[in-house]
Amino acid sequence: MTPRDSTLLRASDVAVHFGSARAVDGVELDIRAGEIIALVGESGCGKTTLARTLLGLQKPTSGQVLYEGKPLASSNRGLREYRRHAQLVLQDPTGALNPRHSVYEAVAEGLRIHRVPGDERELVASALSRAGLRPPERFFGLVPHELSGGQRQRVVIAGALALDPSVLIADEPVASLDASVRGEILALLLRLRDELGLAALVVTHDLGLAWNIADRVAVMYLGRIVESGPVEQVLTAPQHPYTQALLSVLPESSTPPMVLAGETPDPSRVPTGCRFHPRCPLLAAGLPEEVASKCRTVDLPVVDGAEPGVACHAVAVGSGSHR
Ligand SMILES: Nc1ncnc2c1ncn2[C@@H]1O[C@H](COP(=O)(O)OP(=O)(O)OP(=O)(O)O)[C@@H](O)[C@H]1O
Ligand code: SF4
Ligand SMILES: [Mg+2]
Repeated sequence: MTPRDSTLLRASDVAVHFGSARAVDGVELDIRAGEIIALVGESGCGKTTLARTLLGLQKPTSGQVLYEGKPLASSNRGLREYRRHAQLVLQDPTGALNPRHSVYEAVAEGLRIHRVPGDERELVASALSRAGLRPPERFFGLVPHELSGGQRQRVVIAGALALDPSVLIADEPVASLDASVRGEILALLLRLRDELGLAALVVTHDLGLAWNIADRVAVMYLGRIVESGPVEQVLTAPQHPYTQALLSVLPESSTPPMVLAGETPDPSRVPTGCRFHPRCPLLAAGLPEEVASKCRTVDLPVVDGAEPGVACHAVAVGSGSHR
């Protein structure tokens, strides 16, 4: 297994364009062994597209994804092998499970596709057990409608665990669940990190969730990461006006809400200069002209998501690791 803290999965200057829409537009991000990263940002900023690209389900327009230092294979066979190591967990477990397949079948499916050697029954039982469905045999014959939403998500996670992955890419993994079971599923991800050293990229637009689960946070805006760093740093001392605005509207926020002006951004019309400038509360409140003119005209360097960094002309040089 990869030692903790070493880079497992890396997005290197990844862009994904759909025609004129720049869904992902230059992203540097490292996922290290044994850590949970929360990828946060509002709807349409490119989180799912980036997640799919990290899984090899979407080809980048430019840049590349590296797993353990090697670019992802482009052959179907190579990608299938890769997907054992990086497993996807979707938002809605009901959609991810075949309603007619038993829990056993659902977990065994991946083992069969990947021709995992060993006793299938034991592997299925062990995966269910690691996902917190115990005793596992009790769940073998059940079909999805006989399970709660939380149990269904555990079955999906068990299906991933059966393949012994090193990283989970979880796209809004608890968004479709009742508040009462969200905590359980998040606790499960934390336990998997602690006990198995399993890394995860958790996509969410819930900053509270990021706070509860993540080691690091990457904040995405219109296809770019605008701020990244350790969770305490980003969520208690946010540097980027966009992160500040996101945090200011949380009910527990001690700062007055910063309302974002302007329209929700359109990836086919990325503004010049800082892409956040038409909505930036700091710019609207008034900045020295030499900064304000940069905001409107000078693009920002890509923040390297491996290090704490901020992409903002108004943040003092030296506080971010720009390249
Ligand atoms: N296959 C596609 N073809 C064309 N445009 C796409 C495609 N997939 C995504 N997009 C566009 O790319 C942008 C980013 O979409 P994406 O689904 O990655 O956002 P997101 O951050 O996951 O949003 P949400 O929080 O709503 O799930 C959106 O403008 C979306 O319409
Ligand atoms: S660069 Fe300027 S417009 Fe962009 S976030 Fe910073 S202050 Fe706002
Ligand atoms: Mg999405």
